[in-house]
Amino acid sequence: MCGIVGYVGGREAAPIILASLKKLEYRGYDSAGIAVLSHGKLAVCRSEGKLENLELALRQKPISGTIGIGHTRWATHGRPSELNAHPHRAGEVVVVHNGIIENYLDLKEELLGRGVKFDSETDTEVVAHLVNEKINKGAEFLAAVQKTLKEIDGSYALVFLNQSDPKRLILAKNSTPIVIGCGDGETFVASDIPALLDYTRKVTFLEDGEVAEVRADGFRVLDRKGKAVQRSFKEIAWDAVAAQKGGYRHFMLKEIHEQPRAITDTFRGRISPKNGDVLLDGLPFGPAELREIDKIHLVACGTAWHAALVGKFMLEEIAQIPAEVDYGSEFRYRFPLLGSRSLLLLISQSGETADTLAGVNLARSKGSRIVSICNVVDSSLARKSDGVLYTHAGPEISVASTKAFTTQLTALFLLAVGLGRLRGSVNVSEGRRFLRELIHLPKKIEEALKLENDFDQLARELKGAANFLYLGRGLNYPIAQEGALKLKEISYIHAEGYPAGEMKHGPIALIDETMPVLVLVPKDRYFQKTMGNLKEVESRGGKTIVLTDEPGTFAASAFRVLTVPKTSHYLMPIVLTIPLQLFAYYVAVHRGTDVDQPRNLAKSVTVE
Ligand code: AGP
Repeated sequence: MCGIVGYVGGREAAPIILASLKKLEYRGYDSAGIAVLSHGKLAVCRSEGKLENLELALRQKPISGTIGIGHTRWATHGRPSELNAHPHRAGEVVVVHNGIIENYLDLKEELLGRGVKFDSETDTEVVAHLVNEKINKGAEFLAAVQKTLKEIDGSYALVFLNQSDPKRLILAKNSTPIVIGCGDGETFVASDIPALLDYTRKVTFLEDGEVAEVRADGFRVLDRKGKAVQRSFKEIAWDAVAAQKGGYRHFMLKEIHEQPRAITDTFRGRISPKNGDVLLDGLPFGPAELREIDKIHLVACGTAWHAALVGKFMLEEIAQIPAEVDYGSEFRYRFPLLGSRSLLLLISQSGETADTLAGVNLARSKGSRIVSICNVVDSSLARKSDGVLYTHAGPEISVASTKAFTTQLTALFLLAVGLGRLRGSVNVSEGRRFLRELIHLPKKIEEALKLENDFDQLARELKGAANFLYLGRGLNYPIAQEGALKLKEISYIHAEGYPAGEMKHGPIALIDETMPVLVLVPKDRYFQKTMGNLKEVESRGGKTIVLTDEPGTFAASAFRVLTVPKTSHYLMPIVLTIPLQLFAYYVAVHRGTDVDQPRNLAKSVTVE
């Protein structure tokens, strides 16, 4: 996720672009850049790191001009660096991009074949060259963009500026947001509303497939076929802080709702549904080496550790590779039996968790291969690993991890299917079936998000309970643990997550009429067994809240039965996570705690 902005009008563009980028820094903050048409020539300034570095560079070497574009980056393709920072330039064209161009490698190869030279490792630079090539061959600016859009696949919000066409910006959108704001003799462009609120409240959003031509005195929207589209304005009444949260009350809720998009971004460009295969882009090992792996050691902390537990089921059952799971803080001090055929798989949103990072040196000394599943590009963990499977969740601001978790599960699923195909435990048709289910997952998540009001209501009713128990079986018992952790973290209520069958060995003693018990009962191979555990709770007076995809089978004795959409066995943990996140969120809201920054916690724990 990146932030993009554009300005055309009568004022100096650079200060407006910088101020707007500041409002979008939550979308990415590893590098930033700006391009302004200054005295008829493009002036580009980019810098690595936070926006303040770009500000400093511009203070030292100001750029004057009244049309320009800007970008704050969250790296996906190419590490954070000045060269990979946007805008990217080709000839007289500059572009900023938010999204992922899936077929950029093929396009890059073709361009290289035609003698084009690249300055960066990004997918975006390909787009700049494609447009520039067409202009060089005589195409008009807008037509060159429209033709280029026919060649690229993926998600994008793009803003182009052309030195030889100094009065307009060209915009294009597919799957990632872009909004146009109208002022008096000036027009603004941004990824999100907060960037515009200091200048205008009259905004309009582009739709997928649309292209817009933006000038100081207004704009024109064209559909996929180039036909003009009428667009009306929306008046925005939000205050600026609320707008940064996209209208949501908290970052956590916003991030919960971002999950369909984040999951799509994580599998986008990595799957070949036709061949039932997965492109394991982050693994720098050949097929022979990957076939050789005899054990996977998953190491992580907190929520990422729960993802690792689910990953163990996926890797053992789908890819048929023995796997074991450790807490980072434990792994570093024990003597695990690692060897040259072992794979250490570290999972971390931030890539900066000290206990997780410590596993790297241990594995290095044993000659094991090291791969991480990580959200932050070029984080310490990413740099120390042999390979990285990035989750493309975008920045996670709320301390309580939500979209990072479900994208970690998505990445683990991709890894299990990819390794399974490679090692022969998954054949083509099984691979196709797995990937078909994955493609439908974002829709299922959207359906699960519709349970929000039910969980808001349930949270109101149960917010006074002193303890909660969460139960699940198989690959859903880590989801019970994750649900309990979410509740503990943000509402400060004591909660335990347990494998349902283990309850009778101890926690059952806690059950009485004051104890709400959330039970995950999907219609899977554990269904009857979990039903039995549910009865054990009910017969002791416990208040059962059932989450299931098979609601018909539950007796009236349950306190509440809530229905989640059906999905396949290995993706059910992701679907079941959504209501648990919503429940924890609303309990915290109704108890009045600080949802995004709960007491005593830090977003990433960089100390032991
Ligand atoms: C989850 O909600 C947490 N705040 C915490 O458990 C977190 O998952 C853990 O500290 C690991 O962080 P990481 O993914 O950045 O390594």
